[in-house]
Amino acid sequence: MTDDATTVRDATEADLEAMAAIYDEQVRTSVATFDTEPRGLVYLGDKLAHAGGSDIVLVAVRAGEVLGYAFSGPFRPRPAYDGTKEVSVYLGAGARGLGLGSLLYGALLARLDDLTEVHTQVAVIALPNDASIALHRRHGFTEVGVLREVGRKFDRWVDTAWYQRRVG
Ligand SMILES: CC(C)(COP(=O)(O)OP(=O)(O)OC[C@H]1O[C@@H](n2cnc3c(N)ncnc32)[C@H](O)[C@@H]1OP(=O)(O)O)[C@@H](O)C(=O)NCCC(=O)NCCS
Repeated sequence: MTDDATTVRDATEADLEAMAAIYDEQVRTSVATFDTEPRGLVYLGDKLAHAGGSDIVLVAVRAGEVLGYAFSGPFRPRPAYDGTKEVSVYLGAGARGLGLGSLLYGALLARLDDLTEVHTQVAVIALPNDASIALHRRHGFTEVGVLREVGRKFDRWVDTAWYQRRVG
């Protein structure tokens, strides 16, 4: 999928360093992730290594620069959860608010919708995150509930909102 200047495609090893830099900036500055120490290449490298089938890792690239990524992966490690995918999306600081999150999610969810084995998607949004909530609502997710004070980062308790999207 492309807009005028941006391509969305499957991520490769060559994208990993840029993807990790995007994630680690959020680790250091935001409650969007509950990681508290930069993960380097390990966390996303593992996702890439296990990509295939309904575990999808996409990047948005413009002029050779990785601007963001989105992925689907296992929700919980029990076979009865296999039709449920957890999804997420991260953009670099300069790439937000321009529709790229929507472009990536549109591509990811379209891919998942083509897979008969995928029944539902779950997203966990640490609060506050108005952009992420708007993005998920735009793409058909509805709020299931909020877990209060389940994370602690930057010396404060953080809630998580759980969102779900069901095929059909
Ligand atoms: C969350 C994120 C992926 C959204 O992507 P984005 O490209 O910035 O969002 P888009 O420009 O595609 O906009 C999507 C929707 O969010 C809204 N939005 C964007 N930025 C917003 C903001 N700062 N506050 C409120 N709404 C916002 C847009 O108006 C749009 O709403 P609409 O579809 O109803 O018109 C991006 O901001 C990001 O990477 N943030 C840091 C990492 C993160 O929080 N990831 C999500 C973890 S759950």
